Formats: sequence, C-alpha cells, structure tokens
Amino acid sequence: MQTLAIIGAQWGDEGKGKITDLLSEKCDVVVRYQGGNNAGHTIIINGVKTVLHLLPSGIFHKHCVSVIGHGVVLDPNALLEEIKEVALQIKVSPTNLKIAENVTIVTSFHKLLDIAREGSNTNKIGTTGRGIGPAYQDKVARVGIRLKDLMNKTTLTEKLKLLFFEKEVLFKNLYPSVKLPTIEEESARLYELGLLIKPYMDDTFSFLFKAHKENKKILYEGAQGILLDIDYGTYPYVTSSNTFFGGVFTGAGVRGGKIDEVLGIAKAYCTRVGEGPFPTELNNDMGEKIRQKGKEFGATTGRKRRCGWLDIPLLKYAIATSNLTSIALTKIDILSNMEDLKVCYAYKYQGETITEISPALDLSLVTPLYKDFTPFKDDFGSDFKPSSELQKYLNYIESEIQIPIGILAFGPDRKEIKFLKNYF
Ligand code: IMP
Repeated sequence: MQTLAIIGAQWGDEGKGKITDLLSEKCDVVVRYQGGNNAGHTIIINGVKTVLHLLPSGIFHKHCVSVIGHGVVLDPNALLEEIKEVALQIKVSPTNLKIAENVTIVTSFHKLLDIAREGSNTNKIGTTGRGIGPAYQDKVARVGIRLKDLMNKTTLTEKLKLLFFEKEVLFKNLYPSVKLPTIEEESARLYELGLLIKPYMDDTFSFLFKAHKENKKILYEGAQGILLDIDYGTYPYVTSSNTFFGGVFTGAGVRGGKIDEVLGIAKAYCTRVGEGPFPTELNNDMGEKIRQKGKEFGATTGRKRRCGWLDIPLLKYAIATSNLTSIALTKIDILSNMEDLKVCYAYKYQGETITEISPALDLSLVTPLYKDFTPFKDDFGSDFKPSSELQKYLNYIESEIQIPIGILAFGPDRKEIKFLKNYF
C-alpha cells in the first residue's frame, strides 16, 4: 500500500489523531486536506498530551513531512501558536512542514462573523466559532485571501477591501455591536503573520505529485467526520468542507486519482457536538455514564459531547460514501462493565424498517431499532484478548458492515491500540 486516507466515520472525535500518529510512523508524508482549527486531534506520547488543530499528526515523527493542502482554511495565528507548542517536543522546520501557497486564510472578519451569527439565534449550528464557515463561504464566493496574498501588503489590502465590501454592510446592519478591526489593522496583522509563515509556504501540489512518483508512502488525514460533510452530512448541521474521502482529491491532489485504502475511524458508540439530529442519542443516565467514562468533552471547545449507541445504518452509509476498506473501532473500553449494551441495526421510518439511508433522509424523523448484547467485562490489559462476549459484539458489527475491523483501540496511549490488519 502506498496511499491511505483516514476518515472520521461518524460526527468527528472518533480518535483519528492517535491512529494517524501511529500509522504515520510508517509513512513519509502526512497530509491535512480539509477543515481548519475546528479540528482537535488528541495525541498522547510518553504521557504528554498534545491537541493538534491544524498541524498534521505526522509532525511528531522526524522522518515524516507534514503537508497542509490547499483545501484547508488556515488561521495564521492559530497555526503559529500550535507550531510554538509542538516545537517544545520536536523541531518544526520547512523540511518537515509544508503549507500550500494557495491555502485559504481565516481572517478576523470570518471569526467575528461566525461568532456573531451563532449568537444571533437565527440559524444556530453550534459551530466551533473558529470562522470556518465564513472562510469557506468567501473561498467559494471567489473573494477569499490565500496564503501567498499575505506576502505583499498592497495586494493584501486590496483583497481585504474586496472581502470586506459586503461584510461591512452586513455587520453594520445585523451585528452593529461587533468591534471590527480596520482594513489597515487587519492587513498589518496578516502581513506580519504571513512573514512568519513564509518559510513553510510551498508548492505542495508538485511536492505531493513528486512524492507519489517516488513511491513515497502517503497518509491523508481527514478532520471531522463523514456525517459533518457539507454534501453527505446532516445538512445544515455540518461543517463547511468535504469530510468524506472525496475531500482528498479537491483539497490536496492525488496523482493518478487513486487511494489504495480508506480507513474509517468509528467509536464503539456515537458522539456529536453542536446541533443536529442524532438518532441513537441517549438523554438518560446511560448517556451521562458514557460521557463521564469516555471523557466526552470537546477537544477544541470543551463543550459536552452528546452520546448514544453505535449506529450501524450510519456506519454503512459512511462506508458507502467514502469507499471505506476497513474500520478502526475506538474506545471499546468505555463500554466495558456497563449494565446495558445495544447496537442500532435499523430505523423505523414512515412505517417501514430501513437499514440503508441516503443524504436527503431527515434523520430527525427516524426511530432507531436496537439489538441487545450481553455486556462484556474485558479489562484490556497488555496481553488483551477479547472475551467471548466482546468477540460476539465485534463479529456482529463486522457481519453487518461487511468490511474488516482492522484496529481496536481501548485507551489513549499508543500501547492501547491493537492492529488486526497490516497498514503500509
Ligand atoms: P464549524 O466547523 O466550526 O463550522 O462547526 C460546524 C459543526 O461541526 C458544529 O456542529 C461543530 O460542533 C462540528 N465540528 C466541527 N469540527 C469538529 C470536530 O473536529 N469534531 C467534532 N465536531 C466538529
């Protein structure tokens, strides 16, 4: 295998960071291709916890080149802060970090607009408030600022004027209390940050093309999850990028248009932050138990995550939309020793039982149907072998999804991940 994409198979927060980090040991290049610092990939190495928001998880491996592709939206200040934090553990230089020169920039206006909209209660999505939606909106409206624009102050000021042209009216009329920087202030701020990022700026498209040609092992690291995809997710309660595997092609570039394998990361249960439908959500003691035991609080915003049982129809949907070839099942330890264990195998929808869904289905209208399992009581020690109860649960999932569970994760440390299949 030369190329692998790692994709969140639910609503994000599935534990992609630690698995990407482990697999990137075997890779030459790790690429982030969508999203921005709304992501939070938690990695624990030798007991030290780091939450990566923008930097690819490969950054902790000396031999690995980390690439931020043009499909990402980049907050320059957040990036530099993160580099500073990671640099306490490993050297970050233009040799091991390359950023697409045409990556879209998140400006102060985007962040302020995101926060103002969320506060206005007209269309509450429960965003991370990082300016992600407004930045993608401007990219698509063709008034976005790109990293290379930060290198020339005159061009930058002109582009900021264009970007701000309609927003000025919008802020004045809808959000008059928001304190905005002037164009000149924002231009000066971004120009200075641009100078600091300049050494990392590169033609990542050509770099990746060459890496492919030289048979380098490349890992594409997805952020968020398929159910937050702008096209395939639970619209409008989604993020503003393509989180499904197609995002790799638009956000980074793949030579020959081929990815060898796609690994979906799924928790043994489901979580979601922000608004939107969640069929298996547990608004009861069990949901609270899972939240507390699984420490289900957002890595980026600290918000409580909503918790619920594993949802097979949604997992099958993730597999179908992203051509997943195997999955990693994470946090199985959290379900150990619970008094109940359920899996949703189908939905009741308009009087019918359905097991397959399409992007247009309104998930707030379905009723989940559950299969009960005997709860397992595994302690997941170092020589862990699944008990017969756990094995039954795993076998059932595999038989339903028809692709292998290639990885089992039962704790935050590198030692707590068991590979059942070879990657790279
Ligand atoms: P935005 O990406 O900040 O615009 O937020 C849109 C939706 O995606 C909200 O429901 C967020 O909570 C959710 N979201 C964004 N990034 C993540 C993530 O990394 N994990 C989980 N949820 C996320």
